Amino acid sequence: MLASLRRQRGLLRTAVSFFLLLSLSSCTLFDPWFSPSTDTSARIPAAVASAHPLATQAGLDILAAGGNAVDAAIAVAASLGVVEPYSAGIGGGGFWLLYDAGEDRYRFIDARETAPAAAHRDYYLDADGRVNRDRAINGPSAAGIPGQPAAFAHLSEHYGQLPLTQTLAAAIQQARDGFAVDEKYRSWLGFRLETLRRYPESARIFLQQNEIPAVGHIIRQPDLADTLTALARQGHAGFYQGPVAERLLTEVRRHGGDWSAADLADYRVIERQPLQVQYGELKVISAPPPSSGGIALIQMLNMLNHYTWQQLPAVPQTHLLTEVMRRAYRDRAEFLGDPDFTKVPVSMLLAEQRAADWVKSINMDSATPSLSLSGSKTHDGGFHTTHLSVIDHQGNMVSATLSINLPFGSAFTAAGTGVLLNNEMDDFSAKPGEPNAYGLVGNEANAIAPGKRPLSSMTPTIINSPQQAAILGTPGGSRIISMVFLGALEHLQGKPVEDWVSRPRFHHQYLPDRIEHEPDTFSADEQEALQALGHQLHNVGRDYGNMQAILWNKATNRVSAAADPRGLGHAEVKPLP
Ligand code: GLY
Repeated sequence: MLASLRRQRGLLRTAVSFFLLLSLSSCTLFDPWFSPSTDTSARIPAAVASAHPLATQAGLDILAAGGNAVDAAIAVAASLGVVEPYSAGIGGGGFWLLYDAGEDRYRFIDARETAPAAAHRDYYLDADGRVNRDRAINGPSAAGIPGQPAAFAHLSEHYGQLPLTQTLAAAIQQARDGFAVDEKYRSWLGFRLETLRRYPESARIFLQQNEIPAVGHIIRQPDLADTLTALARQGHAGFYQGPVAERLLTEVRRHGGDWSAADLADYRVIERQPLQVQYGELKVISAPPPSSGGIALIQMLNMLNHYTWQQLPAVPQTHLLTEVMRRAYRDRAEFLGDPDFTKVPVSMLLAEQRAADWVKSINMDSATPSLSLSGSKTHDGGFHTTHLSVIDHQGNMVSATLSINLPFGSAFTAAGTGVLLNNEMDDFSAKPGEPNAYGLVGNEANAIAPGKRPLSSMTPTIINSPQQAAILGTPGGSRIISMVFLGALEHLQGKPVEDWVSRPRFHHQYLPDRIEHEPDTFSADEQEALQALGHQLHNVGRDYGNMQAILWNKATNRVSAAADPRGLGHAEVKPLP
């Protein structure tokens, strides 16, 4: 694939095709749509990769019961929301990238949370104009209207084969019977212990006598089981109207939130065109706004393709990757927001001219100071969320990244519902120039408005060609994009799926102006050489990310799957019967 990509480099420079633009432009620079070489009637091994073995098993069981990739993904996501309560759940939202093998068509389901009608640009500002960080990240004031329940209903109705009563059954049982606390649970809880203690319902469910539970302690969530059951039986209305909605509203308002009945009843997922960029035979499909992930990923690939990057020694390659990250994140800061509220110049950002202009400013002999690149002074960090990848026997694929934002979201559980609410409102820019929990400082494009969706970094991605299909994604806040970028580059170099997920990681996000890296990413000599180029290095002191990936080699009809060794996840290929 690497050789093939190199041969196509000339084409690549001019073939930055962006599917959304096809209908808007008579531009002749697009490659023809590739014809899949795969006979879609042929069966292939199925696979599920997720952040928890129980969730992966739930997906495999649904495939065994005759469900398709979408059914399996619903089962995995619902289960993750129970057994990985620190990462995602029906109190949050996410993005679902689907591939329909029969139609050779990609779809993108935007189930991002929305700001309640009561929210406004200065929602988190105190009387003195300062951002009230506590209101922005803790408790129901920090929660957007959840999108995950609507995603389950929409996906099941339109793209699944099995009813929600079947696909949510494993999650319902896991919520009722409980799951055993593990070290990851304890470690994520450590970040949010004080806030969980503030909310008695959360403390009752997720703590053990108000402390971090011991390994093996069983977390039971019977109220969540009942809420999932209502969703399974009644679909969208089971969550957004009726007793569950009433209870959510009562509890949210009682604890300082501003949701209305209409906020819940009106919530809908949005089907958007995924970003699709053709590089010769290779197509990259990823998340459109309100995610910044797909645009930044494609911008980085576009810049990189001006170089023979694969042949560079380690330090110059790291330098180059850092410089393209710096520039893509710089554009993220300036231009990205909810496209239904702000004009996002997608075509400009993905145009070859943009990449060429940025490349002119890259000096291979020294780091570019971020502040020398004009634009917003935005920065960002990285934390939680989850990802799942699924392929079924027909070659249908799902790449879904789901979130409640920080570990345990807002730390607030609405009593009587079991729903742990997100704190995704903090992904908005509460005040231009003021960093959020990830250190992100946004601008007007991502300012708060009623009904608006906060800018996200979630980057569920599929890379497809007549030879291979790759499904990948990861949690990790603003670092999601650079992780998917590094994972994709492993794939483009022909490395096995295990390498994509285990690769040592580094990250640059424009501001703060430094390379953030895992403890073992660079040798002492590499660190010295990078510093000599002018880079500031920041060891983040821990591993980060939790990538879940699948590779289908179409020539051999072999499927391989891998879960990030940094997490507890499990990836499993289900051989052909
Ligand atoms: N809440 C993390 C993200 O959406 O990027």
